Amino acid sequence: MSDGGSPPPVKARGLVKRYKEVLAVDHIDLNVRTGDVYGFLGPNGAGKTTTLRMALGLITPTEGTVELFGRNPMRQGARALEGVAGFVEAPRFYPYLTGRKNLELLAALDGDGASERIDEVLGVVELAPRAGHRVAGYSHGMRQRLGLASALLRRPRLLILDEPATGLDPAGMRDMRRLIRRLADDGITVLLSSHQLPEVQELCDRVAIVDSGRVVYEGALSDLRRQGGAGYRLRSTDDVRALELARLQTGIEHPLADGTGLGFQADEDAVAAFSLALGRAGIGILALTPELATLEDLFFRLTENGAGGSQPNGADAAQGVSDSDRLVATQ
Ligand SMILES: Nc1ncnc2c1ncn2[C@@H]1O[C@H](COP(=O)(O)OP(=O)(O)O)[C@@H](O)[C@H]1O
Ligand SMILES: [Mg+2]
Repeated sequence: MSDGGSPPPVKARGLVKRYKEVLAVDHIDLNVRTGDVYGFLGPNGAGKTTTLRMALGLITPTEGTVELFGRNPMRQGARALEGVAGFVEAPRFYPYLTGRKNLELLAALDGDGASERIDEVLGVVELAPRAGHRVAGYSHGMRQRLGLASALLRRPRLLILDEPATGLDPAGMRDMRRLIRRLADDGITVLLSSHQLPEVQELCDRVAIVDSGRVVYEGALSDLRRQGGAGYRLRSTDDVRALELARLQTGIEHPLADGTGLGFQADEDAVAAFSLALGRAGIGILALTPELATLEDLFFRLTENGAGGSQPNGADAAQGVSDSDRLVATQ
């Protein structure tokens, strides 16, 4: 969606946050446009929460700037946060008060008719039946939804959510995704961080992929996938030798064994030649199926191969090798 010349919901330039010897955020640029459901994706410790804290004006950048709708929270304070709501890590509430009472206290701080919207936002997050219960008895998912309700009290145009589905059970994750989708459909721009690929794949149209404090890709998810080319999966009677063969075979790109088989990129001619080569080597094919490159494959290629390919921000190659265990690929 076009911004029609008005300042974008989030524009970060050269954001740096240093904690003594730890470079938590290392020159990050972000461009969230109106209408985006923008995924800020990266493994634990990548710098996501720190970046979102700077965006919300909760901590001061060591270097660089972030602007929300053209306003700088460092220079303009609370005024820069008009139309912006969200929370980092977990939302905080008084546990001994009810969900409704917590919202009433927040609404009193927000002013601007927020009190009248309490029933409405409780309805949106489907918490109305439990609003009279103490937060102490809420599940993690209910607290997250109450957090969203409190954000919605402010009638935001931009929602900033830090790993909103992390720690939820599968049903809670599905509910959270539906809710975010619905808010986006209502015209709210969403910036959400996640280390969970399925969540981002399902929700987001544009992403920034971050590793070790640096953006290694920013752009449309669809472009990133196209860049990966057509992928295939192979299960064979001898995956170890099949991998060796794949590495020698012309036209078989990025072969990778993952314990349940082999993934690689290739065009159809190369796949046909590879299947014949497997047969000649006495390796039986149990399954050979085309699949779209997953975001996970692309992530590892971006972060492990020195981040070649598209980098609209001119970000440098990612440093170091990411630990695959840190990135949760399944729910
Ligand atoms: N207040 C702090 N003091 C020192 N180091 C911090 C602080 N906050 C974050 N870090 C470090 O910065 C890095 C990025 O952390 P964080 O932004 O929380 O990552 P993410 O949210 O992507 O998991 C980590 O190495 C973390 O330990
Ligand atoms: Mg975090």
